Amino acid sequence: MKVLVTGGLGFIGANFIRRVLAVRPSWAVVNLDALTYAGNRANAAGLPASRHRWLRGDIADVRAVDRAMKGCELVVHFAAETHVDRSILDASQFLKTNVIGTQVLLDAALRHKVRRFLHVSTDEVYGSVPKGFSKETDLLEPNSPYAASKAASDLLVRSYVATHRAPAIITRASNNYGPYQYPEKALPLMITNFLEDKPFPLYGDGRQVRDWLHVDDHARALLLVLEKGALGEVYNVGGSRTCENRELVRRVLRIMGKPASLVARVEDRKGHDRRYALDGAKLRRLGFRHVHDFESGLRATVAWYQANAAWWRPLKAAGGWRTYCARQYRGRR
Ligand code: NAD
Ligand code: TYD
Repeated sequence: MKVLVTGGLGFIGANFIRRVLAVRPSWAVVNLDALTYAGNRANAAGLPASRHRWLRGDIADVRAVDRAMKGCELVVHFAAETHVDRSILDASQFLKTNVIGTQVLLDAALRHKVRRFLHVSTDEVYGSVPKGFSKETDLLEPNSPYAASKAASDLLVRSYVATHRAPAIITRASNNYGPYQYPEKALPLMITNFLEDKPFPLYGDGRQVRDWLHVDDHARALLLVLEKGALGEVYNVGGSRTCENRELVRRVLRIMGKPASLVARVEDRKGHDRRYALDGAKLRRLGFRHVHDFESGLRATVAWYQANAAWWRPLKAAGGWRTYCARQYRGRR
């Protein structure tokens, strides 16, 4: 079986490829990735060349997509611009990649007659949910340009199912954590800053709630949906634990034995969603169970960044995220 994975040099795509190659010995992966600032060849280090081929290309480029999709029966689409804070500063690349890129892939999937197309999306498309849990049928009410671009891509997928009978499925996952996450996202930024005894900028009152999903559990869920999910359906992939940001910071400080003085309260993110929480009943009915609990998953994640400074130090030294943070969060409280 030949599978096209888009964005496989990023955080979740790379973890997914590792899982697929480990548990499906007869599968081979073509990895179409443009190697943006968030892509990293080191994320694919050690993968067997006979079963994993990286093609550098943009998902919005029809020719690159055609070349990559040739002979593939399955497509798992991760490639996206993913950082909310960047989308607040400039949304243009989010629309090009997340919306136009998805349209180019869907058209190619029809031309190449792929059997299944899995579109990897996010809980952020539902917007902030003050209470209760988002179901797959809930309204899409995105609040950040990132979430709006993902919601647009979800609707595009839905329209291709209705109009062209595209064999597509959508998953919407909550906040992922684990190895190989670019250190601009909250958790790897926090852990790597604490390892360097630098402060973590906690936005606003720190009472925003996120639903934490270990990336390895996400990869299991994606493989399950890819193989057993019903075409045209949407599946939520919730985490094993919801948690306020200020509690997350306290837990990480405790695990790492660091002082509370390393938390710097800064101005809140614009349009910051207060709470995400997913109803995962539909995926459970398909047979999904989490393997990682939050506390041990968090400990293992801290240990991974501790042991892999050679992976993250060059990314932080390149400095893109720092310049960016400095621009946005000049006004500290
Ligand atoms: P990431 O930012 O770590 O990686 C994105 C990858 O896509 C990078 O390798 C990058 O080089 C590649 N890419 C970007 N633009 C491209 C383009 N135009 N053409 C080809 N490749 C391109 O992202 P991630 O955190 O691994 O997220 C993967 C997917 O999962 C995204 O679609 C995201 O919306 C979704 N998701 C993420 C989370 C999370 O917590 N990280 C949660 C739910 C859903
Ligand atoms: P993030 O990892 O950017 O994911 P998302 O915004 O997609 O949920 O942020 C997770 C939470 O942490 C979110 O509520 C914003 C907050 N946060 C901070 O408090 N400080 C930071 O420096 C970052 C990057 C995020």
